[in-house]
Amino acid sequence: MSPEAIVQMLRGLSGTLFDPGIVQALDGLAADERFWADMATADPTLALANSPDMFEDRAMTRGQLMAASQAFSQIIDFRSRFTATHTRGVAETAVFLAEKAGFNAPEQDQMRLAGNLHDLGKLAVPSEIIDKPGPLDAQELAVMRRHPELGRSILLSVPGLEQVTDWASQHHEQPGGQGYPGGLSGRELSLGSRILTVADVFTALREDRPYRAGMGHEATLRVLDDMTAHAALDPLVTSLVHEHHLELNERRLAAQTLAAAEFREFYSGLEQ
Ligand SMILES: [Fe+2]
Ligand SMILES: [Fe+2]
Repeated sequence: MSPEAIVQMLRGLSGTLFDPGIVQALDGLAADERFWADMATADPTLALANSPDMFEDRAMTRGQLMAASQAFSQIIDFRSRFTATHTRGVAETAVFLAEKAGFNAPEQDQMRLAGNLHDLGKLAVPSEIIDKPGPLDAQELAVMRRHPELGRSILLSVPGLEQVTDWASQHHEQPGGQGYPGGLSGRELSLGSRILTVADVFTALREDRPYRAGMGHEATLRVLDDMTAHAALDPLVTSLVHEHHLELNERRLAAQTLAAAEFREFYSGLEQ
């Protein structure tokens, strides 16, 4: 059968036997002669896998990647009304601190991706634990604490996200080595990881939750200082929070206010 006849036949079965989206994708590939050359080899799957340049023009742009990571952040956050805007606040805080620490624009983009995806592994944590109103017992805490490594194993499957994966999966590590999951310390933790850790704690302290208001300016700085004194946070990053606290908090608040509006719109009409 000729290539044209094969494509013609597949088009005819679009919407019945085959998913129209897949037929359309194949249509695009079929215009490329190299696709048919690969199909004529002994192992077409292997040949196709070794022709990444054929798929290059289908790679996501920077904007698409940001939008996709933000969509994931909503999926993570919207599972629980307790933390419905947390990820957006962490991402905004982390990017701001990265900028003040001298990260360039591409590095700041990486930080936004890491912020948006830092709690990705929580998707694998059961809702009863995520949404539990009281404190978690030892076993529930152990399940919850698996989220950084679960996130890491998902992100590792995406080529090009190695840096993002490291930063994202180390957000519960602490410079003194008492964090989890790896108990990493000192030079094992890059500045990017340390920034994300501070951004996570800062946002968790300042954000409003349905059961409590966020902590104020002075109290937040006291907690951060105390944690830094116990080697739970990086002193340089904490000093950046001190230096830019008001501007940083405005940025965080604006990002979380926007996310809250999106959350309400998403659930409008669904709540009893
Ligand atoms: Fe986390
Ligand atoms: Fe978090």
